[in-house]
Amino acid sequence: GTPETRTATGAETGAASTANGQQGAFLTTSQGARLRDTDHSLKAGPRGPTLLQDHHLREKITHFDHERIPERVVHARGTGAHGFFTGYGTADGMTRAGFLAKGKETPVFVRFSTVLGSRGSADTVRDTRGFATKFYTDEGTFDLVGNNIPVFFIQDAIKFPDIIHAAKPHPDREIPQAQSAHDTFWDFVSLHTEAQHHTMWNMSDRGIPRSYRTMEGFGVHTFRLANAAGETVLAKFHWKPKLGVHSLVWEEAQLASGIDPDFHRRDLYDAIEAGAFPEWELGIQVFPDTEEETFDGIDLLDPTKFVPEELAPVQAIGKLVLNRTPTNFFAETEQVAFHVGHLPPGIDVTNDPLLQGRLFSYVDTQLTRLGGPNFSQIPINCPHAAVNDMLRDGFHQHAVHAGAAPYRPNSLDGGNPFPAGDAENAFLDVPVRVAEAAKVRANPASFDDHYSQARLFWLSMSPVEQDHIVAAYTFELAKCYEQPLKERQLRALANIDPTLCARVATGLGLPAPEPTVQLADATPSAALSQIGQEWPGD
Ligand code: HEM
Repeated sequence: GTPETRTATGAETGAASTANGQQGAFLTTSQGARLRDTDHSLKAGPRGPTLLQDHHLREKITHFDHERIPERVVHARGTGAHGFFTGYGTADGMTRAGFLAKGKETPVFVRFSTVLGSRGSADTVRDTRGFATKFYTDEGTFDLVGNNIPVFFIQDAIKFPDIIHAAKPHPDREIPQAQSAHDTFWDFVSLHTEAQHHTMWNMSDRGIPRSYRTMEGFGVHTFRLANAAGETVLAKFHWKPKLGVHSLVWEEAQLASGIDPDFHRRDLYDAIEAGAFPEWELGIQVFPDTEEETFDGIDLLDPTKFVPEELAPVQAIGKLVLNRTPTNFFAETEQVAFHVGHLPPGIDVTNDPLLQGRLFSYVDTQLTRLGGPNFSQIPINCPHAAVNDMLRDGFHQHAVHAGAAPYRPNSLDGGNPFPAGDAENAFLDVPVRVAEAAKVRANPASFDDHYSQARLFWLSMSPVEQDHIVAAYTFELAKCYEQPLKERQLRALANIDPTLCARVATGLGLPAPEPTVQLADATPSAALSQIGQEWPGD
């Protein structure tokens, strides 16, 4: 018969052309030679030793031996889904990003994850959740690599290895896998008190979501949007789930971990397969792009701070629907590679020092995790926009590039058919002025406030939510072995709220320390005014 041609599956996965794994009616070797038998190795007689010349045996086993790749250094445990995004057109005046135009549909792939556990860990542990979205836009891929918590532990990427070392399992025991029962974690967050705000969200019901379908998502950092006229605003991205925000209670989370460690993975898969497609609205909080990069006294470059929605409402700019489960977990969910630097024209980064470090870290880790520099050719990572780059060769190169090795301008190669500077459609770095300043290893003074927003969060909780927070701190800290670090963490809680501190101290059987900073007043409006803002009323 005629040999089958390889089938392109680009429409499904985003690849321009990619090999279908299985074709034809017969089992073959990887070179397409038909096999008669795949159950018996080639031996010197039925009782004889196996022969080294059995290429099929060696190919089958060698390939199996290399089936696993390293798990992600963080966010190893996750699950993904395909869907589409529809723009509302409401962001048109603020950004030229074409995928946000009214009615424009863009395919997406989303990966939800926990942060600290290994690939095989349980879903319902107390942890932050990743919410990473790949928009395959006509103008190039946009990755919104966010979390379900709007603030982060640290203000500078240089501490990321440290917080992760402190929070991941101990090197000797390889326990625990969650952010619990962990002396080194509490040591870190009580010494680096900028982490207190994020930790409070973890200790709240947000740390144990009911389902990925009932989680908010946040881009965390402030981004810079630019419209066609080159005018800019600063913005924070938010995902709002149509089903509302729901959490488990701690006892449910623990039971689910034991009875069904795949609780969230199963929930997402089953919902989509049943046609109950989860939906989110994408929204932005918008701030004037001033030289100070602050809003109502809040430093927009400090990723441990959020801007209360009462002060800057979230404006809906589009809708996400997840409507298709992956065909192959490894090919899609495991091999997807997100990067905060994957930006379409009209969206740019800011100088948030955490974001700046992330811009380096993701591609660096993916070079190892995905085996070299060509992982954007893996189907799930292929842009849907046409690609005409000057990158060549390297491990796992799939493209067959024609012509001379590229350099531009090039007078020998028929000129330069693809000018880089087509301002109409090209990505433009916003020409933000960089302050003339001495090189320093230092933060702005505004980064020193570690407590007022944690206090705002605590005071905004209902009594039952506050009970859950107290119970979570008490449970987690009670598992620590080292008394001095419990005392140090109680001092941090005293600086957030003396009542919270006293309740946790009582649970731990320890005295409650006095605050060492001046506290914001005990109402959200007074706490806001302490940081220079007004409460707009209920
Ligand atoms: C992975 C979010 C900060 C390094 C991830 C993932 C998410 C995420 C959602 C999982 C991506 C996936 O599903 O494949 C965030 C957020 C941050 C943050 C919201 C702060 C606002 C950082 C920082 C660093 C970092 C500061 C390093 C300096 C990494 C690495 C991975 C990762 C190395 C693994 C990527 C891979 O193997 O493909 N992050 N992250 N993250 N993050 Fe972050």
